[in-house]
Amino acid sequence: MTDADSEPQVSRETSTEPAASAGVGVPRETGARPPGLGAVSRETSPSGASPAIHPEATPIEREAAQALHVRNIRQQQWPKPAHSRIFTVANQKGGVGKTTTAVNIAAALGLHGLNVLVIDLDPQGNASTALGVEHRVGTGSIYDVLLSGERIADVAQVAEVAPTLRCVPATLDLAGADIELTSQVAREYRLQRALDTYLESDPDVDYVIIDCPPSLGLLTLNALVAAREVLIPIQCEYYALEGLAQLLNTVELVTSHLNPKLAVTTVLLTMYDSRTKLADQVADEVRGHFGDLVLTPTIPRNVRVSEAPGFGQTVITYDAGSRGAISYLEAARELAERGAAAGTMNKGGNEQ
Ligand SMILES: Nc1ncnc2c1ncn2[C@@H]1O[C@H](COP(=O)(O)OP(=O)(O)OP(=O)(O)O)[C@@H](O)[C@H]1O
Ligand SMILES: [Mg+2]
Repeated sequence: MTDADSEPQVSRETSTEPAASAGVGVPRETGARPPGLGAVSRETSPSGASPAIHPEATPIEREAAQALHVRNIRQQQWPKPAHSRIFTVANQKGGVGKTTTAVNIAAALGLHGLNVLVIDLDPQGNASTALGVEHRVGTGSIYDVLLSGERIADVAQVAEVAPTLRCVPATLDLAGADIELTSQVAREYRLQRALDTYLESDPDVDYVIIDCPPSLGLLTLNALVAAREVLIPIQCEYYALEGLAQLLNTVELVTSHLNPKLAVTTVLLTMYDSRTKLADQVADEVRGHFGDLVLTPTIPRNVRVSEAPGFGQTVITYDAGSRGAISYLEAARELAERGAAAGTMNKGGNEQ
């Protein structure tokens, strides 16, 4: 890592143009400006995870508040869970924000001092791209773990985001893995066994986050068998809940036959567009259905989020002051605090 890399990143939204004219980076939902707090309102961030900047703040006030926020990111330490928490990020629907959620939650946790392992289980290799790790064909990858018995420790790479964040990349080889696995012994347990070995040798790992492809094939099945918790990102769009029954059914089948410790513990609303009524309706419906499993912060649709992977980055490093980054930081913080609060939780999120 270079010195420049270790420096906090300053929001491009505010460094290249005033935030007011850029029209982004400012939560719309901020309330009246409290006296004496300058540009930063704590009203909408009770967790203190990040500042909400008042719409009436001057461009200089915004820049100051965001720069402060960016500097603070790396200084805070979030609570460690009592045991390694293993998440599978799954939704067989394509493009709902699985990868974006996996890498940004992982980056947020890693930047706050937690030990995180991301496993890219999607042949598209999008998580590897976003974390900036090598994943050309020929690179040691999750394919070698699943089909050649390689050890996770030997193929995991440290991501630039944080020294405590590692990623097992996916290469194009993985595209054939679903079929190749079919004829293998213990085909559903391959990832679980590799992960058990890894966690035995490094019990200090706080979070494992597995990014799944948009299908319910053998790769996703391996992820569900290896994990203890399922994180479902749900896009605030038409047909958001369509197909969820199939995912929940699969989770139930895995719980009853292959991995009794698995549970859906977390739901995250993604790509929320506050200008549409539909987004609110979907959010209400999801909260009505999943209750407390839904994280309080909702991820807004934000162009910085979609730009970041093009630069081999998460939005948290690409533009830490953007609304997308702030929301992912808040979501990750809540996830970490829930894990710590349930101090008696075992690896499955189930009461011991
Ligand atoms: N909050 C957001 N705001 C704007 N764009 C977003 C947001 N979240 C995700 N995107 C973009 O939407 C697209 C789909 O997101 P992502 O790749 O995370 O979904 P996915 O569920 O992993 O997709 P797949 O099923 O193909 O694996 C990507 O181009 C991503 O950059
Ligand atoms: Mg993906």
